[in-house]
Amino acid sequence: MPYTNVLEILEADQWFIDSPDLHEFVAIAKEIISSTTHNHTETLNTLEPHFAALLKKQNWLPEHFAQANLDSGLGGGIGQWLLYRSQDRSLTIFSLVIPPHSVTPVHDHLSWGLVGLYKGKQEETVYRRVDSGELEGRAQLEIVGVYPVKSGDIYRLLPPEGDIHSVRAITVFTPSISIHVMGNDIGSIWRNQYNPEQRTVQLFRSGYANAPVSKQK
Ligand SMILES: [Fe+2]
Repeated sequence: MPYTNVLEILEADQWFIDSPDLHEFVAIAKEIISSTTHNHTETLNTLEPHFAALLKKQNWLPEHFAQANLDSGLGGGIGQWLLYRSQDRSLTIFSLVIPPHSVTPVHDHLSWGLVGLYKGKQEETVYRRVDSGELEGRAQLEIVGVYPVKSGDIYRLLPPEGDIHSVRAITVFTPSISIHVMGNDIGSIWRNQYNPEQRTVQLFRSGYANAPVSKQK
């Protein structure tokens, strides 16, 4: 492949599924993001009804993107499938497939985001960090709340409040599938994974099941 073509690919928006519904949502999301750059609460308020409409459609996610992934960077066979990534990495959309009884590590996101349940049932445990962060590798968390999440429900990520959580699938036979709209390239960045019982924290990178991580600018 000529060098210039490689650069063109690297500089382009990346689409991993061909869905008019997702294309329409991304066009709206880009407009909203560019007009609410300095107010992420406004970004979430304006974007959420459009995201709710996308979630309701229930027929646009290909089966391949609703599968578990045994090589998961999150462990537990959890599939993180990239659906769309903008050229400037300021918008990514992915599906997260949690097999029955699996649970994510306790983790943060470091960006605004909207998470909506597409199929199944989950339980979200939200944490708050209560230590000063002065001791490297150490972190003390307390539980803010445990919340049921059912199909069609949407919750918000807006750091620092509510940015640390773990999510468990509570369906018995089928995976739960959530759709994530994030203001960063979350699979590519180094972020934090916590062990609340041992009061430890370490950096991790979740990656994607179907796409390489980006070099961070
Ligand atoms: Fe999360």
